[in-house]
Amino acid sequence: MGFFPDFPIVTPRLILRPFTRGDVDAVFDYRGRRDVAFYLFDGPLSRDEVATAVQQRVVQIGWNEPEDKIVLGAELRETGTLIGELSLIWRSEEARQAEVGWIFHPEYQGRGYATEAAGAMFDLAFRDASIHRIFARCDARNGSSWRLMERLGMRREAHFREHAIFKGGWDEEFIYAVLRREWRDGV
Ligand SMILES: CC(C)(COP(=O)(O)OP(=O)(O)OC[C@H]1O[C@@H](n2cnc3c(N)ncnc32)[C@H](O)[C@@H]1OP(=O)(O)O)[C@@H](O)C(=O)NCCC(=O)NCCS
Repeated sequence: MGFFPDFPIVTPRLILRPFTRGDVDAVFDYRGRRDVAFYLFDGPLSRDEVATAVQQRVVQIGWNEPEDKIVLGAELRETGTLIGELSLIWRSEEARQAEVGWIFHPEYQGRGYATEAAGAMFDLAFRDASIHRIFARCDARNGSSWRLMERLGMRREAHFREHAIFKGGWDEEFIYAVLRREWRDGV
């Protein structure tokens, strides 16, 4: 059964909403940066690549079948500035598994916005989509990302040692996860 939530999702400081074609410049502001791309599979994106990515995101607003993604922009309520994005990928229908991902503009990091936005995405997944387990992956050196996972109450379930090649070197990957019954005392 598919899942097509209502948007926007409003949190104390943010609005989470689908992307629009007008977001290309704001997304290029962070996806074009080398520091943002450091631990991402993609390198820094050109403006044309960002335009293509935004065009794909415009329709990534629901799940028809496993591997579909919901990708939302995080906008500051106070100013309307787009400061980052979150993705929720439906990984298994039968086992009700989803994978979360996040990218925020460095100028807006370190203020808890990613925690606030991800918390709302977890509510959506567990409460509205009846997801059983949410997991996330990151490079073991990406402390900002795994600290975010731990702030969200996710548990480190795996540390893959030198299991793949990432940007020319050995990859070390953490897997974190949280179950529905563990999230905010169960929803
Ligand atoms: C991963 C990423 C989204 C984390 O962003 P972040 O800004 O560190 O996360 P938050 O917005 O939740 O902010 C948390 C930080 O702000 C601090 N903070 C300040 N006010 C806060 C608040 N109200 N609530 C929570 N944390 C707050 C926290 O102490 C924490 O700092 P610390 O990591 O030094 O301990 C960001 O680093 C990023 O986009 N990186 C580039 C892309 C990337 O690598 N994505 C992940 C791929 S796996």
